[in-house]
Amino acid sequence: MQFPAWSQERALEVIARTSGEPGPVLVTLQGIQEYFGYVPDGAVALIASACNVSRADVHGVLTFYHDLRTELPRKVQIKICVAEACQSMGARDVAESARKSVIDNLDVEISNAYCLGNCALAPAASVDGKLRGRVSVKSLVKEISQL
Ligand code: FES
Repeated sequence: MQFPAWSQERALEVIARTSGEPGPVLVTLQGIQEYFGYVPDGAVALIASACNVSRADVHGVLTFYHDLRTELPRKVQIKICVAEACQSMGARDVAESARKSVIDNLDVEISNAYCLGNCALAPAASVDGKLRGRVSVKSLVKEISQL
């Protein structure tokens, strides 16, 4: 997915749309990430000013939520569930093997998730937001190659 380059002008437009919402810091961070693909350093001070909080407050929210990024995402996002049901079906092995395999050499980001609501088809994963069940390293590699 392509994202526009950082622009303070565009960031201020996003902030103007979101900073009046309830929970403005989180909503604004999400808005910035949705637009730019991540939260650039330059956005933190702008959000702090618009939401009338300190930069430390914004940084605290930014670092608390794992889904918020401070770098551009890789091309493919894979989340492998490692909660109980999936763990009992070998999800940790799938995640570890996936990270060690060729997947890691591609433009792929692998992260852990904690229950994707697909426990009956454990081990579960999401590939660019699409839910998958009974995944293996082989099935993940195959799907990525078709993207
Ligand atoms: S425990 Fe993995 S999807 Fe629920």
